[in-house]
Amino acid sequence: MVIIMILEGKRVLVTGGAVRIGRAITEALQAEGAEVVVHYLSSQEEAEALSQYTVQGNLLSPDDCARMIEASGPLDILVNSASLFTKDRLADAFPERVHREFQVNLFAPMELTRLFAAQAEKGAVVNLLDRRIRANDPSALPYSITKKGLEELTRLSALELAPGIRVNAVAPGPILPPPGDSGENFAEAAGKVPLEFFPTPGNIAEAVVFLLKADYCTGQVIFVDGGQHLLGNGV
Ligand SMILES: NC(=O)c1ccc[n+]([C@@H]2O[C@H](COP(=O)([O-])OP(=O)(O)OC[C@H]3O[C@@H](n4cnc5c(N)ncnc54)[C@H](OP(=O)(O)O)[C@@H]3O)[C@@H](O)[C@H]2O)c1
Repeated sequence: MVIIMILEGKRVLVTGGAVRIGRAITEALQAEGAEVVVHYLSSQEEAEALSQYTVQGNLLSPDDCARMIEASGPLDILVNSASLFTKDRLADAFPERVHREFQVNLFAPMELTRLFAAQAEKGAVVNLLDRRIRANDPSALPYSITKKGLEELTRLSALELAPGIRVNAVAPGPILPPPGDSGENFAEAAGKVPLEFFPTPGNIAEAVVFLLKADYCTGQVIFVDGGQHLLGNGV
């Protein structure tokens, strides 16, 4: 029997939900009738403009992760979208920088998933990955490892948390230039896209909503990248 998860009235925590792709996810979930708790680090004004439910927290801190789940709950859904992106090669991968990227992109989603599952018998998690998980891109070395790790966490936690909780992922291609980047050379830096257009934040949000409703899917990754992952390193 297939039961489509109804998002109306569901309580959702979206990390990094106030700006950029996270904001599009927040708005799409609200349009489905979900009650979204918008997590932010510094974007308080944007978060409060979007939802009456907000929570501040630094994903570098395990204590903040615990406080965020406690303050947001009881939750039905967790979306791990916040991230840190550095264009660090191995030569730049000093332990403190690597630790920050691993903490925000991998360890915090793992801790949030663990705490979420401890308070929810049923529900769903969606992790935001990157099309780089199907490439070997040394120009963003620690970042790529964190997202490959998060893909593995998606599969392993999907198995461990079944049947009550489903865990899926969306892997975007180039959508927005990194914060602080003017985007002047975005198309050039983004490389080849087989479908010849860039997906939008709204397209990412649509995939998140689809996976949350798809009660028959767990451990899945949807690439929303115009087909770029098919090219591997050849973008
Ligand atoms: N943009 C793209 O083209 C692209 C491509 C591939 C994959 N992705 C993935 O898609 C997801 C969303 O991407 P995005 O570009 O919209 O967002 P992003 O720039 O990767 O992430 C920004 C968000 O992360 C939050 N954040 C950063 N450091 C934090 C920390 N220490 N503690 C708590 N929150 C922290 C920021 O919060 P505040 O604003 O409140 O400070 C902000 O909301 C990410 O997982 C990213 O890796 C994006």
